[in-house]
Amino acid sequence: MKLILLGAPGAGKGTQANYIKEKFGIPQISTGDMLRAAVKAGTPLGLEAKKIMDAGGLVRDDIIIGLVKERIAEADCGNGFLFDGFPRTIPQAEAMKEAGVDIDYVVEIDVPDETIIDRMSGRRVHVASGRTYHVKYNPPKAEGVDDVTGEPLVQRDDDKAETVKKRLDVYHEQTEVLVGFYSQMAASGDSKAPKYVKVNGVQAVETVRDQV
Ligand code: AP5
Ligand code: ZN
Repeated sequence: MKLILLGAPGAGKGTQANYIKEKFGIPQISTGDMLRAAVKAGTPLGLEAKKIMDAGGLVRDDIIIGLVKERIAEADCGNGFLFDGFPRTIPQAEAMKEAGVDIDYVVEIDVPDETIIDRMSGRRVHVASGRTYHVKYNPPKAEGVDDVTGEPLVQRDDDKAETVKKRLDVYHEQTEVLVGFYSQMAASGDSKAPKYVKVNGVQAVETVRDQV
């Protein structure tokens, strides 16, 4: 099974990915997590990406497409995968089509901008695993630490209010077009086209999970 989770920053892609990957036994491919790992490791990509991410912009398409193509060629992707935060532009989506990657489902998690800021300010993450919590809506079992490893949780550098606003603008300018791109593909009747599913993301985490 090959899935795309589509949605604005803070819509809950990472949160839902956590359940989906367990349920279907497929790896989560989060380009955001991959970039944050590169930043942490201090690689040349990480150094370049950090500035862009902190400013709320998008990393160049050719870099991202290269990263993803390498990742989906790995052995654990044989039974499929879950894209989280990718594709994010038309060229990224076209690159997957050209590479013959047939997506089974595109799941859009729909959340209005007003809700996003509140979610981002309370978000806490476990950097090594990408596990995500919210101080109010999805708290860890013990305050400030990851449920699985007991390691400390941190705030993401790009979760400052002004950066979140910029990320939302970029989403509306460059990523939201993918809603039309994939829903038109789904409606085309082509047997290789993905099915398109839209879920209301302004519901409890468990309700969204059940609907997804
Ligand atoms: P990325 O890491 O992909 O960030 P994003 O798309 O902005 O999405 P987020 O991770 O912020 O949100 P999410 O939808 O995963 O929400 P979450 O589940 O955490 O990208 C970061 C940056 O990397 C980009 O800005 C860009 O610079 C670069 N980048 C990445 N991919 C790229 C690409 N393909 N091309 C170019 N550049 C790229 O939830 C958010 C919070 O809400 C959490 O606290 C959570 O606990 C809470 N929450 C979740 N669901 C609910 C709910 N139902 N009710 C209440 N609270 C909830
Ligand atoms: Zn995420």
